[in-house]
Amino acid sequence: MTTGTTKLAGVLGWPVSHSKSPALHGHWLARYGIDGAYLPLAVKPEVLEQALRALPVMGFRGVNITVPHKEEACRLCDTVDPQAKKIGAVNTIRVEEDGSLFGWNTDGIGFLRNLASNSGWKGPAGPAVVLGAGGASRAVLAALVETGVPEIRLVNRTVEKAERVAAEIGGPIQSMGFDSVEQAMDGAALLVNTTSLGMSGQPPLDISLDTLPASAVVTDIVYSPLETPLLVMAEGRGNKTVDGLGMLLHQAAPGFAAWFGREPEVDQELRDAVLAG
Ligand code: ATR
Repeated sequence: MTTGTTKLAGVLGWPVSHSKSPALHGHWLARYGIDGAYLPLAVKPEVLEQALRALPVMGFRGVNITVPHKEEACRLCDTVDPQAKKIGAVNTIRVEEDGSLFGWNTDGIGFLRNLASNSGWKGPAGPAVVLGAGGASRAVLAALVETGVPEIRLVNRTVEKAERVAAEIGGPIQSMGFDSVEQAMDGAALLVNTTSLGMSGQPPLDISLDTLPASAVVTDIVYSPLETPLLVMAEGRGNKTVDGLGMLLHQAAPGFAAWFGREPEVDQELRDAVLAG
């Protein structure tokens, strides 16, 4: 039962009904017996600022931010973590004691923890190929640079966009178009898809993996379906694969810890709960 002392958090999005975050945080709250609630909050873009400013007075500990608000939330928070500033997007907010809003971005750490816990991949081991240069890609790129990947080959349909993103993120990123994807994969230790291709209702990624070493890890941030055509193709030729659901689970942990005061576990039980929810 929720009462006047229940710790409140939630996710702001528009629309928000597709979000898996309430099932995810709800599972953790129940598992740890915490007097907390995590609510889906449908907030239109034109009232995002009002909604964020209302959080402290409504007693919220903080929120997650999802599509389409991540960039605007980055501009509206009182303090923004430097990594989130570089990415240009905030996905987690903590309400401070004085009512100010601190925003950060946990997508990159979620991406890295998912890779680390489900594969033997180590950042400095070799070049990484990143497909796509949108919002999700920026968080992945920043995380790869920070973890010491020696060379990142950024492949995007629109090369100018990749060049712009590479310049903004900084680090050893080379930009190229899909006509160079086979050369890009030559000698790579990691292949990441951040495009929407392969998602349910979208065409699959139309690339050959012939030049990718068998030792490379392949991961997709798309998690619907869990086994994207890219992952099926990679598995078929013996590459280690990591699906995108783990990134969603891992990116949620820092917010939960900040609002509810307990480091949560990311395990099979959580995966099953989110898949069922
Ligand atoms: P997100 O925030 O999820 O990353 P986004 O910012 O809309 O979403 O970015 C989508 C990415 O998928 C972009 O890299 C986009 O390529 P462009 O920058 O050239 O638009 C890529 N993408 C989407 N549809 C594509 C398609 N049909 N072929 C190739 N790339 C595609």
